[in-house]
Amino acid sequence: MNIKKILAATLLTSSLLSGAYIAPVGGLVPAAHAEQVKLPNVKILATGGTIAGSAASNTATTGYTAGALGIDILINAVPEMKEIANVTGEQIASVGSPNVNNEILLKLGKRVNELLASDEVDGIVITHGTDTLEETAYFLNLVVKSDKPVVVVGAMRPATAISADGPFNLYNAVKLAGDPAAKGKGTMMLLNDRIGAARFTSKTNTTMLDTFKAPEDGYIGAIAGGKNYFYSEVIRKHTTKSVFDISKLSELPQVDILYGYQNDSRLLYDALVAAGSKGIVVAGSGNGSLSGQAREGAIDAAKKGVAVVRSSRVGSGIVTRSATDDTNNFVASDSLNPQKARILLMLALTQTNDPKKIQAFFNEY
Ligand code: SIN
Repeated sequence: MNIKKILAATLLTSSLLSGAYIAPVGGLVPAAHAEQVKLPNVKILATGGTIAGSAASNTATTGYTAGALGIDILINAVPEMKEIANVTGEQIASVGSPNVNNEILLKLGKRVNELLASDEVDGIVITHGTDTLEETAYFLNLVVKSDKPVVVVGAMRPATAISADGPFNLYNAVKLAGDPAAKGKGTMMLLNDRIGAARFTSKTNTTMLDTFKAPEDGYIGAIAGGKNYFYSEVIRKHTTKSVFDISKLSELPQVDILYGYQNDSRLLYDALVAAGSKGIVVAGSGNGSLSGQAREGAIDAAKKGVAVVRSSRVGSGIVTRSATDDTNNFVASDSLNPQKARILLMLALTQTNDPKKIQAFFNEY
C-alpha cells in the first residue's frame, strides 16, 4: 500500500469517528449539544523523527525514512485535535533525531521562548524522534523561560504503520499542552499515555512501544479517559527558575561523551583535548568509575581546563562525589545519565569553567 492510500485510510477512520460526534468520558453526544468552551491555542513545532516517518509498507516498523512527512500532514491526519485546541504548526527541522545538533537545539529553544512570550500561545508541542528526544526535552527544561506547558512527543512506529502510535500520542500531547493544570511542571515527554518529566525520563528499549521510562523517579502523570492526571512534581530547578539564557547565544560549547569499558585507554581523552573539546562526560562503569589509564587521561584533560563530569553507563542511579573528585577537579553527575549530563554541562560552560560551580549546577538541576 502506498503512502497516499495509507494516510487516506487513516483520515477516513478518523473522520468516521469524529465527524458529527465528540466523545467525552461516558459516551458519544452530538457535537451540536456540546458546551461552547474557549479552546487553548497550541502550537506544534515539528522536527522530524518516526512520528513523521514513512515506510514502504504498512507493516514495516524498521528501515523507514524518519522525518519524511511535514507538519501539515501530521495535523491533518488527526482532525480530532481541532475539538480540543486551536492547533497551528511550524516546521523547525525534518531530521531523524540522531541528527538533531546544537544548532537545531538553539533554534528550537529560541523559537519556543518567542512563542510562549505571546498571549496568543497557551502551550507548545514538539514532534521529535525518540532516539534523542530526552536530550532535547532536558535542554528545553533548562532554557525555556515560561511556565506554560511544553510537551515533547514522538512515536515508535512510523506514521504509515498499522496501529501507528503517533496520532494518539500527538492528540494526547496537544491535550496536555492546552491544559492549565500542566503549567509549571517543566518540559514534559508524552508517549504511550504516560506524562514523563524531562529530568527523569529516558528511552530504555530500542524498538518496543513502552520504551520511555523513569526507573527511579516515576512518571509525573498519565492520561486516561481523555483527562490528564498529575501525581508528582520535579523539585530540581527548571524553566522559570533556571539561570540558563540562550537568547544571545549563537553556539554551544563542544562537549563530548566517552564510554568506559575493560581495557580502555587514555587515547580518546587525549584526542578530545587535542581537538579542542571544552568538556568530557564519562559514561563510567558502576558509580562513575574510570580505569587507571582513563583516569590519567581525564586528570590531564582537567589540568588543561577541560571540564570532566563522571556519569555512569549503568542506566539508572546516582553518581556520588568521590574523595578524589576535589583533587582531580572532577564533577559528579548526580542522577543525570551521560546524554543529559552533556546537555547540562554545555549550558554550565556558558556561565563558568570552575568545577565547583559546575558541581553546584549538577546538584541543583
Ligand atoms: C529518530 O529518533 O528520529 C528515529 C527513531 C524514532 O523516532 O523512534
